[in-house]
Amino acid sequence: MAGIDRNLGMELVRVTEAAALSAAPHMGRGDGKAGDGAAVRAMRALLGTVRMAGTVVIGEGEKDDAPMLWNGETVGSGEPPALDLAVDPVEGTRLLALGRPNAIAVIAAAPAGTLWTPGDSFYMDKLVAPAAARGAVDISAPPARNLAAVAEALDRPVHELTVFVLDKPRHEALIREIREAGARVSLHTDGDVMGALLAAYPDTGVDLLMGIGGTPEGVIAAAAVKALGGEMQGRRAPQLDEERERLSRSVPASELDRVLHLADLVQGEDAFFAATAITDSPFLEGVRYRSGLGVTTESLVIRARSGSIRHIRGVHRLDAEHIFGGGNSREEFARVMDVVAD
Ligand code: FBP
Repeated sequence: MAGIDRNLGMELVRVTEAAALSAAPHMGRGDGKAGDGAAVRAMRALLGTVRMAGTVVIGEGEKDDAPMLWNGETVGSGEPPALDLAVDPVEGTRLLALGRPNAIAVIAAAPAGTLWTPGDSFYMDKLVAPAAARGAVDISAPPARNLAAVAEALDRPVHELTVFVLDKPRHEALIREIREAGARVSLHTDGDVMGALLAAYPDTGVDLLMGIGGTPEGVIAAAAVKALGGEMQGRRAPQLDEERERLSRSVPASELDRVLHLADLVQGEDAFFAATAITDSPFLEGVRYRSGLGVTTESLVIRARSGSIRHIRGVHRLDAEHIFGGGNSREEFARVMDVVAD
């Protein structure tokens, strides 16, 4: 397949910026759904402006449940390149609702047919490590063994390592094992795409991500980890009865436990990843309202083929309608404010 001749990430970042700007007025107001709805509308409107024949392969759910950005929806101008898109207009809905760190608007894109699709798998066990540890870890091995391997690869003792883990009851044993092995655990209620970014990106203060999170988030994270040259492995880890039952019907038993490597999750080298912070994170500042200056955003754009990483700081005028996309204009912002004032 011929490579994609331009850095689509540069166009996709306008899309994540619009989603973040539209979600931001809802930050800390306790209503994640409203923030998600605003971000979805903005993301969809801006995706329509990108020159591509995009198909949403990881989106807001099935067509019947999701009015926009449903799995299978086609977006963009319709011209080549044909792309698979994995979108999450608000990754960390609860983080947004509660005004906590690490909520981001995010998109991954790759040539059509090259992103792994989760099907009936909602939850996935994930292991993400920095580039230096590529080939040295194995998600099937005990945490202590992987921690020792990463410590050796980074030339640091295990007790200096920090592992990002979602703070969920299902991780009780994992957290104990990491601590017993001597490493430090950084617990987060949500947001393991940011966790994967922190683990794969050098010098963030996080050295690994371990544990079970969403499968769609796993594929999105894989695009970033691949582009950053890091290591990631995943394995389906159903948590719900309905999920187990559906998987038993749709996936052969021999496949269920298969370890998925980066080459399975994102095939080829043409992946793009764009993310804009909605709330603050360790290396991206969230949407800020500034007197006199307007609104600022910070985004990350990564291209796998070239390995280029761009931090993009945007300054946006609050009265410029185009940045908010369809129906998400200054009026919508004012309406949110009115609702709050009522
Ligand atoms: P949403 O924004 O879709 O709510 O996802 C947040 C998140 O924390 C993801 O980062 C993570 O992969 C997943 O939810 C974990 O799911 P659960 O909270 O059900 O364990």
